[in-house]
Amino acid sequence: MISTAVKKSFNKLKFQREIELPDFASKSSIPIRHLNIGFDGKEIDVRFYMDNQFATLFFATLSVFLTYGEDLVIETARHHREFIKDPILKQRVTSLIGQEAIHSKLHNEYNDALQDAEYPVALYRFLGSNFFKYVFLKFPQPLKLSMMAGIEHFTAVLAEYMMKHEKNFYYSDDEKSRALWMWHMLEESEHKDIAYDVYQLLNGSYALRASGFFLALFTILGLIPATTLFVPVLRKPQEMLTLKFWKDARRGVGLIFGPKDGVFGSTIGQILDYLRPDFHPNDHDTTEYLEYYKKKLLTEGGAIAPYFVKEFTPPVRMS
Ligand SMILES: [Fe+2]
Ligand SMILES: [Fe+2]
Repeated sequence: MISTAVKKSFNKLKFQREIELPDFASKSSIPIRHLNIGFDGKEIDVRFYMDNQFATLFFATLSVFLTYGEDLVIETARHHREFIKDPILKQRVTSLIGQEAIHSKLHNEYNDALQDAEYPVALYRFLGSNFFKYVFLKFPQPLKLSMMAGIEHFTAVLAEYMMKHEKNFYYSDDEKSRALWMWHMLEESEHKDIAYDVYQLLNGSYALRASGFFLALFTILGLIPATTLFVPVLRKPQEMLTLKFWKDARRGVGLIFGPKDGVFGSTIGQILDYLRPDFHPNDHDTTEYLEYYKKKLLTEGGAIAPYFVKEFTPPVRMS
């Protein structure tokens, strides 16, 4: 009953938009790329990220939880696409849904393979699926919409960090992990403004946007790191008795949270920039990086090229 009352009051809220909406017609279309990577657990390098096991396991945990976040994005984007009249924005939402659907599929395949690398996939899938099913997916649509925009902000910041640190992908010979993460990086940056534009168009409340941001923050910088701490205990507890393990863990925490050059530690200013009332994802211009990586990764000899199957650009429908 309480949840119905909360849902009703959320749905009733009408808000003033804080920012000017961009001209969608000026935006280039986004293709949905199909990849066939074919992961094999025995080939997965658990030190893939900068020759560090702890940081690689953090990304493995992110990979498991990300699939549920992507499912939330897909469901929410599908629901709200019906209310969009602009045919270009509608087309962009279809691209977002298509890209996220393939991310979710490939990360699930990667997660299956992680099982062979002794990562506790089944347990973490159980936790992730239930948490999303009984908590986040029960939220009223406006809150899910703001959470979708919040999640997409985090993946955009992460993608931009990775685009600026290309060498971090080349510490290992594990070409399949490299293809997965670089392809995902490219597409997260490519579609980074879509969820936000939909949010601003259909709702626009600053307070609700901040709520979605804090939910995404709680999940990505709270739940995921906290659950990563248990991975070594569940995986190979005997390793924890060695000095090598603790040295690796210490370095790994720095690689993720270090204020100087850590993935999230050094980008905290950009993460919090989302709370600026007139924030827009394109305030952080990544077009040159996008062009560079599209050329580099997808053409012959590029990290994604061996696994690329086909791409499809959704048509613009005028009705
Ligand atoms: Fe994604
Ligand atoms: Fe995304």
